[in-house]
Amino acid sequence: MRTYLVTGGAGFIGSNYIHYMLKKYGEEIRIINVDVLTYAGNLENLKDVENLPNYTFVKADITDKDAISRIFAENDIDRVVHFAAESHVDRSIRNPEVFVKTNVLGTAVMLNCAKAAWEQPDGSFAPGKKFLHVSTDEVYGSLSEPDTFFYETTPYDPHSPYSASKAGSDMLVKSYMDTYKFPANITNCSNNYGPYQFPEKLIPLIINNALQGKKLPVYGDGKNVRDWLYVMDHAKAIDMVQEKGKLFETYNIGGHNEKENIRIVEIILETLQDMLSDEDPRKALVTKDLITYVEDRKGHDRRYAIAPDKIKADLGWEPETMFEEGIRLTIQWFFENEEWMKNVTSGDYQKYYEEMYQ
Ligand code: NAD
Ligand code: TYD
Repeated sequence: MRTYLVTGGAGFIGSNYIHYMLKKYGEEIRIINVDVLTYAGNLENLKDVENLPNYTFVKADITDKDAISRIFAENDIDRVVHFAAESHVDRSIRNPEVFVKTNVLGTAVMLNCAKAAWEQPDGSFAPGKKFLHVSTDEVYGSLSEPDTFFYETTPYDPHSPYSASKAGSDMLVKSYMDTYKFPANITNCSNNYGPYQFPEKLIPLIINNALQGKKLPVYGDGKNVRDWLYVMDHAKAIDMVQEKGKLFETYNIGGHNEKENIRIVEIILETLQDMLSDEDPRKALVTKDLITYVEDRKGHDRRYAIAPDKIKADLGWEPETMFEEGIRLTIQWFFENEEWMKNVTSGDYQKYYEEMYQ
């Protein structure tokens, strides 16, 4: 039985990954989810697996060296999948320090504890031990020319405190691979969407606002481009990289699904119109009149676009969920989980929203 230590498993991608892995491998694997439960971490995301004998939750901070080394000492960890991070660009612009602490220092602690637990007396690493660092395409910066893409060889050029801190964490992982031959991989993925995404990010925020007839804030001219991937396709890619990828390699993950932000908002409105029944009072609220252009994000990257050629050629990974289907699945999930949305948007979220958008 392989043991996985998943950091940040109570967040959006981490919880989807845990669902994916437990469904795929069942009791062949054991998962220890380490999460400190910031505003973005929510144990409700894992309600349906919390009682499984091969799943354990540990509340701990990845910057807490003692807590993390204890987890390694008490468990024979085979794999680390490191999601835990501060992940929202707008928050990083307002409060950069916690991004440096969690993303850079937290990754250093994770690397050091894994190294201490896995390194053998001769300096080599026990076979089968692997660390996967989950990162973002934002480390590559912004593309200005059409038909250009981010490759694994594209130089890093981060612009926001978020992407700079993720770039720093990637560099630390690279340094461990180069210096110690530490058994790791890095994945750099494009924007994800799907169930359990916190409604500070574009897609869930627009769905939630539209269903309440609230304004839909579009930054700048709405023509910034992101490359969107359904979260379960990301979960599958992470597993494939750990199972079949070559150690020490970086893999870019993305779906060739580039869209302007304004088009994303329009697609959500069109899909909501189509999915809501004529009797549903919310149907009348969901109109393009809600679209409101607001002040642009500071330093707003214009375009991201991943070339997923390497992961396709080497591992045979391809996105399986087309955007039209993925957005319907996501909206359907939000329809079926209104309580979840109510719970995560009460309290602190209201304060964040008012400060951010007023
Ligand atoms: P998220 O913000 O939804 O979740 C982050 C999780 O990490 C939360 O559960 C939070 O409680 C936990 N966490 C934060 N600080 C912690 C700490 N100090 N100790 C322990 N746990 C802590 O983020 P997400 O969108 O699920 O992203 C997960 C990872 O994937 C991040 O590393 C992010 O950079 C990367 N990524 C995200 C996207 C995307 O579109 N969301 C795309 C590519 C890569
Ligand atoms: P976001 O979901 O925050 O992801 P990221 O900044 O990591 O790409 O934003 C996606 C795009 O949508 C980005 O170009 C900023 C834009 N955006 C808006 O126009 N309005 C909003 O309210 C938000 C949250 C984002």
